[in-house]
Amino acid sequence: MKQFYMAGNWKMHKTVAESATFAKELSDKLSPCKEKVMIAPAFTALAAVAEVLKGSKILLGAQNMAGEEQGAHTGEVSVLMLKDLGVKVVILGHSERRHSYLETDKMVNAKLLLSIRHGIDPILCVGETLEEREAGRLESVVGTQLRSGLAGLAAAEIAKVTIAYEPVWAIGTGKTATPEDADAVHAYIRKVVAELYGEVAAKAICIQYGGSVKADNVVALMAKPNIDGALVGGASLKAETFAPIALFRP
Ligand code: PGA
Repeated sequence: MKQFYMAGNWKMHKTVAESATFAKELSDKLSPCKEKVMIAPAFTALAAVAEVLKGSKILLGAQNMAGEEQGAHTGEVSVLMLKDLGVKVVILGHSERRHSYLETDKMVNAKLLLSIRHGIDPILCVGETLEEREAGRLESVVGTQLRSGLAGLAAAEIAKVTIAYEPVWAIGTGKTATPEDADAVHAYIRKVVAELYGEVAAKAICIQYGGSVKADNVVALMAKPNIDGALVGGASLKAETFAPIALFRP
């Protein structure tokens, strides 16, 4: 049976105590879960959540990291610091980083190569805005984000990368791409990965969908052949909304 990859991006929510309590609740509730599960708390809560997740199958993720290992980068968090805390996964190029903090494909690429070099598995987020979609630019935008984001990545490392397709207009809006629309973009992503790394890598790569994933749409989304998991924002903040997603099978 196919294993899905369900990830929770907690964004800028929860204190250290709230994060630790919630992580404990999730690790209990999700103990029967057969999927791969990751949670990404705020940087401040990573250490506490790492402690709670010891012995749990849930992977610890970070929401971002710097594109440099260390140095004069006020306010940034290094891959070495994440590694030190036991972080296994990092979300890179989230649309909120791209749009609100002006992260470029080049910056995302530097972060991706650095995460790979240090053994932290990246989730590379790609996705178009509504204007780009309506202007017929979906494939060129997503294609560029992919090609630039993966630039310089050796073929031997592509298996460590997860792609998250998150149409910007569907994030936090309650609007979800239809399963058919999402699947079509996922198929396009696979095609680009095939061009870059060959058919075997393209078939194997995990492509998550993100954007208003909820318990009531997860079954239809995951039923699509090219959708291999979900990157969940709002619904990942409570056990009663995230557990049914991670445990979605009927
Ligand atoms: P959402 O966020 O589930 O709240 O739409 C998804 C994301 O930003 O990763």
